[in-house]
Amino acid sequence: MTRYYLSLLFFWLIAQTTFAADSSFPDFDQLKPQSELPDPLTTLAGRQVTNVEQWEQERKPELKALFEHYMYGKRPAPPEKIEFIVEHTKKDFLDGKATKKEVTIRFSPEGSPAIQLLVVIPNERKGPAPVFVGPNFGGNHLVWDDPTIRLPTTWMPDRQAGAVDHKATEAGRGKQATVWNVDLIVDRGYALATFYCGDLDPDNPDLSNGLHPNYLKPATKELGPTDPSSITLWAWGVSRAVDYLVQDSDIDAKRIAVVGHSRLGKTALLAGAFDERIAVVIPSQAGCGGTAPSRGKVGESVKQINERFPHWFCGNFKQFNEQPEKLPFDQNCLIALCAPRAVLLPNAEEDQWANPDGQFEALLAAEPVYKLYGAEGCAVRQRPDTGTLVDSRLGYFYRTGKHAMSRTDWEAFLSFADKHMPAQ
Ligand code: GCU
Repeated sequence: MTRYYLSLLFFWLIAQTTFAADSSFPDFDQLKPQSELPDPLTTLAGRQVTNVEQWEQERKPELKALFEHYMYGKRPAPPEKIEFIVEHTKKDFLDGKATKKEVTIRFSPEGSPAIQLLVVIPNERKGPAPVFVGPNFGGNHLVWDDPTIRLPTTWMPDRQAGAVDHKATEAGRGKQATVWNVDLIVDRGYALATFYCGDLDPDNPDLSNGLHPNYLKPATKELGPTDPSSITLWAWGVSRAVDYLVQDSDIDAKRIAVVGHSRLGKTALLAGAFDERIAVVIPSQAGCGGTAPSRGKVGESVKQINERFPHWFCGNFKQFNEQPEKLPFDQNCLIALCAPRAVLLPNAEEDQWANPDGQFEALLAAEPVYKLYGAEGCAVRQRPDTGTLVDSRLGYFYRTGKHAMSRTDWEAFLSFADKHMPAQ
């Protein structure tokens, strides 16, 4: 008898997952407006989630599928084949403080673009190093002025340092040293792994380049309802970098943090939500479409982001331009998908476009899932003053200044990681 009920339960669970994976979700017209941030612990059908098992088995897969369906597009499956080629190793990088590896990550299907991963590992360390992994905007060569770092060969926005006619040039070398602060990262005992986001998909609305042709019909001009967006492809790329990192014996596979700024902060959160090998998630000033509520009234709106950057989100998301309150989730639910892992939201006073207050509300509204695990949530109820790092499991950092990733930010990221990386 018990066995009978167990098998019923099993089939019910499968049905829930299949429903979620099928994405047979309501049409936009059937969705009901909801002005408050949706509760991550209430399912689409209105059931209350009361324990971790139900969250893991039912609601988490449903939420992931909802985000894919209405916002970011379908995340491709991991590649069937993946290959890591360590092209070059330099043991006296950063005046002998670190070892630098130039890694090519190739994956199926044949003809897919490859990822060029730059990995910098401190030489002085007791065991495998904890690592920050994150995509960059303009090529690995911007991170540090060193002639042996490879230049990207793919399309590059001309606003990136040293880019000419949409190609990276030598002139860009080291131009973002104060953005990535690899010297500081290494001094604090961490490794850095970074790649140019354009390796996966150049940041422009053209859908004929990057990985898009693998998933779209030829000559597609606009993303279809659930086609994978650029943010999805970048986040998928983070997972391919993680595939490499977990098998590199110089890296501690249990201590991986993802970091990204702005549009790549949106990417970092999505990567953290979908890839549980990532222990600490740091989406910097990610704003609308990332860590700020789509229902937010400050800064960028869903309509503005969809109109300026149509390739960042799938076709379905455009339906919410005028009525974001019809979304059956908000970004608090994406943060909640990281539970019980640590998430830090870094923000800046002069970056109201990214809605720092709204992000703080989203952080608090992710908390119920952390509580379900018996994990710590956010230690404060009010957005902290500038210069303050709230380093609880759901963390927040607020500083003076503008929209950028800085050394001050990295000092906060490193302190946060020191506290929240799992023990060695
Ligand atoms: C624009 C965009 C933001 C994005 C930012 C960036 O400002 O509106 O959503 O985060 O670019 O990526 O720098």
